[in-house]
This record gives sequence, structure tokens and C-alpha cells, in this order.
Amino acid sequence: MNQDQLKQAVAKAAIAEIEPHLESDSIIGIGTGSTANFFIDELARIKNEFDGAVASSNATAERLKKHGIPVYDLNSVAGMEYYIDGADETNHHLELIKGGGGALTREKIVAAVAKKFICIADQSKKVDILGAFPLPVEVIPMARSYVARELVKLGGDPVYREGFTTDNGNIILDVFNMDITAPKQLERDINQLVGVVTNGLFACRPADIVLLGTADGIERLE
Ligand code: 5RP
Repeated sequence: MNQDQLKQAVAKAAIAEIEPHLESDSIIGIGTGSTANFFIDELARIKNEFDGAVASSNATAERLKKHGIPVYDLNSVAGMEYYIDGADETNHHLELIKGGGGALTREKIVAAVAKKFICIADQSKKVDILGAFPLPVEVIPMARSYVARELVKLGGDPVYREGFTTDNGNIILDVFNMDITAPKQLERDINQLVGVVTNGLFACRPADIVLLGTADGIERLE
């Protein structure tokens, strides 16, 4: 199986996980990226079994609408049972690096609201220690140089993601070579820097379930 087939298999597994629990008024939080896109395409097949979705990016909102799935503003929903999203890395504690697609802030907000965060990924995303993937940090544009200097003090090598603006109008610094042996502490430390909107560590609020597409089937971490 190639990587896309693994992503599609894990998207189907996430549907199987949530479908028995959906009700006509259910709202589902949806992440961003290629794996989330496979999930959206599968979700469209059962769109009559729930009310609608909250999107973590403009791109996801567009894809949902194209499938005829109603998209709600997060402020207009009381809560949601599930948030489904991909990841750039996961460790065995279900702590994640996200934000390769630059949607980390809205992803973190929707994940915070959901009762259960189901992360879906192919097997290449599972690591022992987070950090081979550069850690994305969303930053208010005028704070870019200041935050970059502070990230160097924290031990990282930040690189400005050229030509990219987030849905919130901000920039991304991708931080290479960061020691992420204490993910929760690092998540808090980076978020303390003035000018940082948020960083792509999902450790303080990790996934509740990680489903991994592997050549031997779906691996479940919980
Ligand atoms: C976007 C994300 C994505 O979930 C992450 O980049 C994984 O993407 P893909 O499913 O395309 O591998 O965090 O901000």
C-alpha cells in the first residue's frame, strides 16, 4: 500500500469509530491536510447521519461545503463529541506535532472544544521522540524577529516559512533541531513568548486515540 492508500484506510477506520455514535444533531470538528481530506471525502458518504461540521481552516471549510456538508462557526455550537485530524508526528503518549499545513492555531482551538480527539495518520508519523519534523510556531508578523531570537535561546533553529500567511493573517516559524524530550513544558514555554499565537505541540491536550494506517492494518494507540 502506498502512503495515500494508508491515509484512506485510516480515514475509513475513523468513520467506523464515530459512525455508531452519531446523532442527527451531532457536530464534528474537522482538521486540515491530506489525511483530513480523505476523511472529509469518506464523511460525505454519511452526511445524512449528522448535522454538520466545524472546520479548522478555510481549505477544509471549502472541501466540506463542496460535499454539501453544513459548516458552522465554532462560536455558534455548544460543543462537539469528536475532532478528527492528521498530524506530522505522534509519540507513544499521543503527543503530537501539528501545523505542517499551517493551520495549527485553529486546529488547537477546535481540538480544545471536542470531547474526543481522534488523530489519523499513516505509520510514517509515529516516532519515539518528537522533533525530527520542524516545530511550527504561529507568530504575529511584527514579532517575527524577536520570537526567532527567543526560540534560538530555547535551543531551536527557527526558519521563516517564506510566502506563507496563516488563515489568521500571521506568519509561521518552523523550528528545527529543538529538544522535545519534555513536550508539555516546551509547549507552555513557547506559548509564553510575547508575539507567539500558538505552537504546533499538542501535548497539554494530546490526542485521545491515534489510528495509524500500516501495511498490516490499522494500529490503535490509546
Ligand atoms: C495541518 C496539520 C496536518 O494535520 C499535518 O500537517 C498532517 O498533514 P497530512 O495529513 O497532509 O500529512 O497539522 O496544519
